[in-house]
Amino acid sequence: MHRLTLIPGDGIGPEITAAVTKIIKSAGVEIDWDVQSAGADVAEKEGTPLPQRVIESIQKNKVALKAPVTTPIGKGFRSVNVALRKELDLYANIRPCKNIKGIKTPFNNVDIVVVRENTEDLYAGIEKKIDDNSAESIKIITRKASERIFEYGFEYALKNNRKTLHAVTKANICKLTDGLFLECGRNVAKKYPMIDFKEILVDNLCMQLVQHPEKFDVLVLPNLYGDIVSDLTAGLIGGLGVAQGANIGSDCAVFEPVHGSAPDIKGQNKANPTALLLCAVNMLNYIGEREKAAKIENALMKVLGQGAVLTPDLGGNAGTNEFTDEIIKNL
Ligand code: NAI
Repeated sequence: MHRLTLIPGDGIGPEITAAVTKIIKSAGVEIDWDVQSAGADVAEKEGTPLPQRVIESIQKNKVALKAPVTTPIGKGFRSVNVALRKELDLYANIRPCKNIKGIKTPFNNVDIVVVRENTEDLYAGIEKKIDDNSAESIKIITRKASERIFEYGFEYALKNNRKTLHAVTKANICKLTDGLFLECGRNVAKKYPMIDFKEILVDNLCMQLVQHPEKFDVLVLPNLYGDIVSDLTAGLIGGLGVAQGANIGSDCAVFEPVHGSAPDIKGQNKANPTALLLCAVNMLNYIGEREKAAKIENALMKVLGQGAVLTPDLGGNAGTNEFTDEIIKNL
């Protein structure tokens, strides 16, 4: 029996969490979930959207499955996601994007892994208002965090038989900050001559990704570009409903989808649980439940491949519950 932290989140979070835990249970994996609420409702009741008990639970259990949490735009509390990554030093955000059979997109040869630095850059949250008409935000890039993310990226490439790693920056404009990030990439690359190291500016990358995504393999980016580019790569394989992610630290790991809490479809039985389910598959592999992880992934791929029972974001008309039951039938 594994004891793992579960954060059901808000918006569509609780719906997709219920779907995914039902599938995991049906596949015969025994998990004693340590359920921890976080987010807007919790902020009202406990005075903070991320109580210390959530952090302590993950520190104790080491592994968490997390559904999305709403962050107020332009006001209110700091993002729970950003705070969690910082508190637990979850420095690497890994977002693999590979075509899924049955999901039609303009491309059929996408196989990209976005490795996003997760702890600094403009997400350090150091912002201040100067006067009514101006504000500033500080972009932090350090050698320690940059070298660590490139080390992770190269090790990932090596372990997963990847050939090319691109360092993605805007070092022509942000000469000191992105310049330092790139310098760290060049230095770490010297230790990995077997991986082809390339450099690209983020604007050029975006243009090329929507024309020739097959040219890209592993991308290592500072926090902000990584956030934006990983939504773009999610779009290349069928959208946010199928894009998984993992936040990895030296001590803990939090598995969470790329997408947000989708308040526009909350409570309508329309949410696609695929992204969270792929995160769960990745998490099961991480804790050594490889056989059950493969069983779930095969059932999911079968349902997606057949294309008969799909959620609306994938062009189908099945509800979250119907889609979930179809996967369980195929286990
Ligand atoms: P979003 O990802 O929630 O939604 C964007 C669009 O994609 C919406 O039309 C939504 O319906 C659709 N979508 C997303 N996930 C889907 C799924 N599983 N199935 C079907 N359709 C799906 O992005 P948005 O609207 O910008 O953000 C909403 C909230 O989520 C914000 O408060 C934001 O801060 C938060 N957020 C939280 C994240 C996290 O907890 N890791 C990550 C990104 C955003």
